Amino acid sequence: MKKIKVAPSILSADFRVLEREVKAAQDAGADMIHCDVMDGHFVPNITFGPFVVEAVKKCVAIPLDVHLMISDPGKYADAFCDAGADILSFHAEAVGGIDDVFALVGKIRARGARPGVAVNPDKPVSLFMGALTEIDQIVIMSVYAGFGGQKFIPDAIDKVAAVRKAALDMGVGIDIEVDGGVNEQTARLCVAAGADVLVAGSYVFGGGAENYAGRIEAVRGK
Ligand code: DX5
Ligand code: ZN
Repeated sequence: MKKIKVAPSILSADFRVLEREVKAAQDAGADMIHCDVMDGHFVPNITFGPFVVEAVKKCVAIPLDVHLMISDPGKYADAFCDAGADILSFHAEAVGGIDDVFALVGKIRARGARPGVAVNPDKPVSLFMGALTEIDQIVIMSVYAGFGGQKFIPDAIDKVAAVRKAALDMGVGIDIEVDGGVNEQTARLCVAAGADVLVAGSYVFGGGAENYAGRIEAVRGK
């Protein structure tokens, strides 16, 4: 049984004191820091670029799980790898077809980062099933990409189960990450379906630093 990893998303952190927030999350047991990059084009919101990833990299020792919610992610993959992304996930629907997914996955891996592919709730997992053997992480969005604090979309559970079954059938030990609306209750559903990485933004950072450890433990489960 793989260890369940918890990746707090800094989208819900207090950016006035970002260093303190990410260090507190790391000290509270976070396995990775999830960095949500948004371009105001692929999603109707704008967050930050490589320079924030670079700053966070200087603050923590745990891996940075960078989630690109941008158009033309291939154009910026090098910049985020240079900034210190340990895992770099992009949206399958932001590139052309499966050949483009393969190409970008290869480029990210060649840069020494672990490639991940994400899909929004309204997109089929078939967009990346063909590349399961080449990818280190699948990001099943349980909210529409663009904002923190949204309500969990239960359809994500079936997607997690479908990908886990396909991965087992192929003998592929891929990480399945669920991203969006994850809390103590929804995390249990995700893990039962086969997820092993859980992103939690508002549930962790919304709880006050004194509660980060308890919230992270609650998401990870016993
Ligand atoms: C949404 C982001 C998520 C989000 C998670 O576009 O990809 O990572 O920040 O935040 P919560 O856990 O609050 O839904
Ligand atoms: Zn995310």
